[in-house]
Amino acid sequence: MSGNPLPPAHVAIIMDGNGRWAQSRGLPRSEGHLAGAEPVRVILKAAHRLGVKFLTLYAFSTENWARSIDEVDNLFALLTRYLDSETAELLASGVRLKGVGDLERLPKTTRLALAKAEELTAANQELTLSLALSYGSRAELTRAAQDLALKAKAGDLDPANLTEATLTSHLWTGGLPDVDLLIRTGGDQRISNFLLWHLAYAELYFTETLWPDFGEADFLAAVTDFQSRHRRFGRV
Ligand code: IPE
Ligand code: IPE
Ligand code: MG
Repeated sequence: MSGNPLPPAHVAIIMDGNGRWAQSRGLPRSEGHLAGAEPVRVILKAAHRLGVKFLTLYAFSTENWARSIDEVDNLFALLTRYLDSETAELLASGVRLKGVGDLERLPKTTRLALAKAEELTAANQELTLSLALSYGSRAELTRAAQDLALKAKAGDLDPANLTEATLTSHLWTGGLPDVDLLIRTGGDQRISNFLLWHLAYAELYFTETLWPDFGEADFLAAVTDFQSRHRRFGRV
């Protein structure tokens, strides 16, 4: 049998191409990031309607800290505004918001807005929206290895009993299940240090469309493509 009749339970998206979207219009990169907020709203609604349970969005990578201070400040100011303006809607629509990444590095105002949104929406169960912020898989895995080594050294963990589930529970992305469908916009076909552990058996979908242009029809096309795939998980 081929194809997946069910929608993907966990969709992860590398929202790429904001800068090029702006540059092609002769605008500063910040305008591309601003325009990138609308597809977040649209795709969240579409995913919710389809019955997706986990939506994980790559908003800022560990490596993105190397960008100019102006761009980084602008991105976090936008994100803080998004959190302040959208939390009520998330709460009302049954969406639980989570930040995943090295959140201690975030500017204080963003951290506070995120903590508030997480707290307010904590009991929601329809869909978990995870924002990957200051996120990088290698940093995440290294941190988990450090935590586990410290526990073993303190005698709180027997290395012989360490399982995949133990490791997963020590990741920033703690309770997230494996990704079913990964979408990357912006034309590049790479992972850029995103969810290396959870992508083990994900179906990958790359599109040239730049993130600010990515709409509901594009999302549905990705899901339809996913539903036509035959996932074997190593079996025949
Ligand atoms: C993605 O768009 C958003 C972030 C990485 C924060 P980019 O800013 O990477 O846009 P391009 O790839 O330069 O077009
Ligand atoms: C990946 O995009 C990170 C986010 C979308 C947040 P990048 O633009 O940082 O990735 P590279 O540098 O092209 O690999
Ligand atoms: Mg990019």
